[in-house]
Amino acid sequence: MPALYHLSREDLLPDKFKVLGLGRRISKTEKYVIEMKSRVEIYCSHAMEERFWKPLKDRMISIESSDINKHSTFEDIQREIMAIEDDWGRKANKVFFFATSPSHFKVIVQKLIENGLNKSDSKCWTRLVIEKPFGLNLADADRLNNLLLQGFSEEQVYRIDHFLGKESVQNILIFRMSNLMFQPLWNNEYVDHVQITISETIGVEGRVDFFQQTGAVLDMLQSHILQVLAFLAMEPPASFEPEDIRDQKVLLLRSIRRYPSEEIGKYVVRGQYDHGVVKSVHVPGYRDEDPRTSDSLIETYAAMKIFIDNPRWRGVPFYLRTGKRMPERRSFIYIQLKRPLTKDIPMMLQRGQQPMKNSISIDIQPKGGVKLQLGWRPSGLLESVKQADLSIEGQMAVKEPKAYERLLVDVIRGDSTLFIRHDEVREMFRVVEPFLQYFRKEDEQIRNGEIPDYFPNYYAGTQGPPEADTFINKDGREWVWVEPIPNY
Ligand code: BG6
Repeated sequence: MPALYHLSREDLLPDKFKVLGLGRRISKTEKYVIEMKSRVEIYCSHAMEERFWKPLKDRMISIESSDINKHSTFEDIQREIMAIEDDWGRKANKVFFFATSPSHFKVIVQKLIENGLNKSDSKCWTRLVIEKPFGLNLADADRLNNLLLQGFSEEQVYRIDHFLGKESVQNILIFRMSNLMFQPLWNNEYVDHVQITISETIGVEGRVDFFQQTGAVLDMLQSHILQVLAFLAMEPPASFEPEDIRDQKVLLLRSIRRYPSEEIGKYVVRGQYDHGVVKSVHVPGYRDEDPRTSDSLIETYAAMKIFIDNPRWRGVPFYLRTGKRMPERRSFIYIQLKRPLTKDIPMMLQRGQQPMKNSISIDIQPKGGVKLQLGWRPSGLLESVKQADLSIEGQMAVKEPKAYERLLVDVIRGDSTLFIRHDEVREMFRVVEPFLQYFRKEDEQIRNGEIPDYFPNYYAGTQGPPEADTFINKDGREWVWVEPIPNY
């Protein structure tokens, strides 16, 4: 709803437009509008202004206490749509947005099909928006997809990964493809390694049921981080048409090395937060969040090392990490280049000093932006070469349209570039499933007393478990904690 309000502010809502609210706890229209207004006031980054709220409010309807398990709910939807169409004197295009738990997808899809609400043609389309996780494992994802395909075509299905709606994530591709100077560097000849970090300060925010099923790997790494990785590392597409871009993402994901099960433990570290202090506030450990988590073995932190076995990236490690209750909310990519081949810096005073390694840091949030680290000697007879930064400064916190606004507009326009195709979902599962199987095996050993329970293993407010440092340090590298790029 905040995204729709933003679209109303920007005057981007179509003239003929209605929002139909459904759900078991949904009230009748007058009360629904008041409830939605308070939501917008809480979550919207702009102040609530009646002149922008009114056009949206006037287009809202709700079906009170609508239970998806009841056939009558879908008859009510059908009736409301027909009333709208009578009023408009034309057929309506429809977007069904599933803001529900994935366990409800099946029944909703079946009922939409049974009631003929899936029909789409060139004059009047129907689209379906679903949110991750698209299943809890590969088999589950395939089952969900088969169900969808019983009544909808792939073109009608828009799978949201809201990270792709972030301008800074779209900018990864723009930065790569529109700057010739970086294109020759984008390969194993120049790149030493890459780090992708999504760190959050929040915990599970009351979503215990959800998180107990997903953990950090399914919630963040399988989706957001792999999508960021795909934009960063894929081959240039034949065109910037949605299918060409998505084909390249699939190829990239397919090139990620699968490790033999007996070796997989060498490529991953997982963690779970204990109590601690985040932004000066004392917060409980994951096991104290809720009675259901008291002996949980679910990870709230994960770090992985992966390799992309294609000619461009063969041999370059990509370190991926994500964690809840870390010291800062920050998402960034760090690309470390190799050291120049010259053995030392070719000026008298610098003899013996090694040239530094350049790096490219791409800030995804909070600000967006890019920083290049270069070596430069400040003026002065006795000065040596120092690190100097060149940056494109982010303004995202001020001007960024929120991810959902962009994605909603794209659904209405029928542009699927920033949505995930089922074959991408399959490849993402193929990457993470061996790691999840490894975790589940370890869980069993812990429960049987064969190995000690090592959770919790990091304090809230720290950068993850100490093992994660050892994990990268043994490769002669260290985690980078990139400062957000300042505003102008
Ligand atoms: C969601 C995850 O997809 O992304 C949450 O389910 C996470 O656990 C959130 O907190 C992070 O998104 P953002 O846009 O706030 O970085």
